[in-house]
Amino acid sequence: MNYFIHTYGCQMNVHDSEKIAGILQSIGYIECDSVDKADIVVFNTCCIRETAEKKIYGHIGQLKKLKIKNRNLIIVVCGCMSQQDGAVESIKKSYPYVDIVLGTANLEMLKDAVLQVSKHRKKFFNVDFLNTREEDFSISRTSYPNAWVNIAYGCNNFCTYCIVPYVRGREHSRPIRDILKEVKSLLEEGYKEITLLGQNVNSYGHGLETGENFAMLLTEIGKLEETYGKFRLRFMTSHPKDLSDEVINVVSKYPVICNNIHLPVQSGSTEILRRMNRRYTREKYLELISKVRAKMPDVGITTDIMVGFPGETEQDFEDTLDLVRQAKYSSAFCFVYSRRKGTPADKMEDQIPYKVKQSRITRLLACQNEVTKEISAQMVGNTYEVLVEGANFHYQGVMCGRTESGRLVNFKCDSKMIGQFVNVKIDKAKSATLWGSIVTEE
Ligand code: 5AD
Ligand code: SF4
Repeated sequence: MNYFIHTYGCQMNVHDSEKIAGILQSIGYIECDSVDKADIVVFNTCCIRETAEKKIYGHIGQLKKLKIKNRNLIIVVCGCMSQQDGAVESIKKSYPYVDIVLGTANLEMLKDAVLQVSKHRKKFFNVDFLNTREEDFSISRTSYPNAWVNIAYGCNNFCTYCIVPYVRGREHSRPIRDILKEVKSLLEEGYKEITLLGQNVNSYGHGLETGENFAMLLTEIGKLEETYGKFRLRFMTSHPKDLSDEVINVVSKYPVICNNIHLPVQSGSTEILRRMNRRYTREKYLELISKVRAKMPDVGITTDIMVGFPGETEQDFEDTLDLVRQAKYSSAFCFVYSRRKGTPADKMEDQIPYKVKQSRITRLLACQNEVTKEISAQMVGNTYEVLVEGANFHYQGVMCGRTESGRLVNFKCDSKMIGQFVNVKIDKAKSATLWGSIVTEE
């Protein structure tokens, strides 16, 4: 029996799909490389923007033909989209051949759901927030030498544009004890990079009775190098309002914690930030960047930026471009604001016309591209330590890996080197892409 998983959206979903794969393997399913060969197809969905949602519904629609050919095919829809208000009803109505719908916080039900459908031909719909998730799934990891580790689920921030708090529920953290146990066992298995995941890692610990916080968690993991040897620790995402001095100090203190921070700004205009409920100003954000750079001069800072939020004037947008130039991000994920039902911003009156949004995103991308080019050019000729991560599928014999600051580098080497640290001298830079060659110490 074969399974095929379609994963959409962020790293959180990529990691959830590793858990889904683990559950399916535990009941005898094997991964296959196309939906046509599958006995079970899982859609692990995202609804952060309308474009994602439309695409996914289109893909689910395409499975109707396959289901007519193979009545035993099991179709599962899970993840953020299924957790939206009214989604279960609309899936039942418009896609009646879907057999299982699960939410974002009850994945552990998948095993029983699949057994119920395959044995009794009885459909299974449940999107309750169980939040009992302790990580006792066998996780089928797919990103060696990196391993994703959840530290917190959900979000309490309610940025006015964002659907995440509604579909992923309230924030809750795993205790340090459980996270450490998972990290130690990954290091024992030979993973060389651990990436901690949470919607807002900086508020890690809220609600835990133990008083644990993110700096404490980082410290505990930072100390593991003594016992387990060299590895890298990354984390995402950091909300600027909660990035404390303590966390900045810990990141700069422990060598295993990468000097690389993903710090979404969203907008460079204080007024837009206020309307977004981000709870920082343009000035505070820039101060934070200066503070981080003062402690870690070689830090790589990346961000998320949105254009076309309701009420965004030309001046607000210019302020964003100006901030991008000042912040010197090594890269930025740039988005066009998308209206999400049920969020406060969807009800704001001054929505921005499509054409204006399109022109602003083009200008923003060009602006960030200039910044990236400038940073890349400065890297040429320097040597950086890189963790060999995998093959570059476009070029034979070329591997890729990241610098500590998070920049992706292409270089020639044997695939046997995956999981090893090498020194790479940067030979040339093509905007975001760096090319280099391994240097061996004399
Ligand atoms: N429209 C466009 N982009 C959004 N994001 C979140 N919600 C929306 C939305 N409604 C972006 C933010 C966030 C990233 C994960 O997705 O920039 O940081
Ligand atoms: Fe969405 Fe804001 Fe929470 Fe991030 S912090 S998930 S943007 S509500």
